This record gives sequence, C-alpha cells and structure tokens, in this order.
Amino acid sequence: QFVATLVRRKPRCVLGLATGSTPLGLYAELVRMHREEGLDFSRVVTFNLDEYVGLSGSHPQSYRHFMQQNLFDHINIDPRDTHVPDGRALDFESYCEQYERMIAEEGGIDMQLLGIGGDGHIAFNEPGSSLGSRTRLKTLTEETVRDNARFFGSEKDVPRLAITMGVGTILESRQCLLLAAGASKARAIRDTIEGPITAQITASALQLHRDVIAILDQEAARL
Ligand code: PGA
Repeated sequence: QFVATLVRRKPRCVLGLATGSTPLGLYAELVRMHREEGLDFSRVVTFNLDEYVGLSGSHPQSYRHFMQQNLFDHINIDPRDTHVPDGRALDFESYCEQYERMIAEEGGIDMQLLGIGGDGHIAFNEPGSSLGSRTRLKTLTEETVRDNARFFGSEKDVPRLAITMGVGTILESRQCLLLAAGASKARAIRDTIEGPITAQITASALQLHRDVIAILDQEAARL
C-alpha cells in the first residue's frame, strides 16, 4: 500500500528496489495491483541497489534477471526507466559515478525498499562499510557468500564482488521501507533499531534518516 500510494500520488516517482527473498511478496502484490486494479507504472523510474560483478543481465542469478522475472516483465514500466547496476561494466569507477549521477538527474529516490542481511547489511554494504559510502565495488563477506550460495548451487559459484549503492546513497532517499521476516533477522533488526550506530551493522545508519518505516514479522521483531 505504501508503494502503490506513492505511485498513484506521483506517477513519475523514483523507486529504489531491492532483490532477495524478502521483497518477493511485495512484488507479487504490485503485479496483482497492476493486473486487477490498473496500478500504472508507465512513468515510474526505478534504481536497484546492487548487482553481482561479472554476471550479465541474462544470467539467471543476476539481479537484473531477478527484477525482470519478479516485477518488470509483468507491469507496464518503460524498460528504459529501469536501472540495475551493470555487473559487466568496463570501467567500474566511472560507471559507479554515472549511476549516482543518473539517480540525481531523476531528482533522487522517493522511496527505497530495503531488506537486511543476517550481518546487518543493507544492499551489499557489508560490515565495515563507511556510513558515508557511495555507489562502488564491495567484497562480499563469507557470511553473505554462504547465505547466497542457496541460489547458485555451491559457494564457489557465488561472485565475490558486487556493485552496490553506498550507505550514504541510501540515506539520501526521501523515505526508506525496511522489510524483514524470520528469526534469522532478529539480531540484525535489534542492532539496527536499538543498537549503537556502527559501520559493523550498516543498517544502523538508518537511525540517522528522518523517514524510515520498518515492517517486521513477529520472528524478526522478537528481540
Ligand atoms: P534476503 O536477503 O531478502 O534474501 O533475506 C536480504 C539481504 O541480504 O539484504
């Protein structure tokens, strides 16, 4: 409802999107609203948080592919307005700067969807990421590689690097919608909401943001 209300109120809104298992229900509901209620995405612009380095958009585990399968192919969004970082960019440094520029040129992100890692990361801002960081390359932690191996078949097939929006990039979005479900997120959610602000739990930087909505199930909220 939060996303749909924004899309209705501001047809040319800029959505920051996330991948992973958490937002699947949200995307399925947006597709349903598009089909059954005519929710119109024709002018919506999207920027995804991150992408694995080395995977092309057609790779089944790429985040571009995930977004096509779970959302973009089922709504009336203009493909030119959907942005997912290019994991095969030739010059990553200038590509990351360009990604930031594109967000700024669209007027910034109105609503950023966020999942959270078991280690408290948002996007691929792993523990130790600067809280002022911008879009850049990050090395995935062993925990994240293990968490994501379930999609790749084996740990050795998981890319070790990703392009990710920075914590600073995320903090500039006008509103954040943080979603978490399940006991495996309980500790990270406690640290994020009630712990000290620390680069070891990058989601804790959201305490500095003035408009974050956290939607948690009982298990994730347990602590
Ligand atoms: P998940 O991933 O939604 O698949 O739990 C979230 C994350 O690691 O950011």
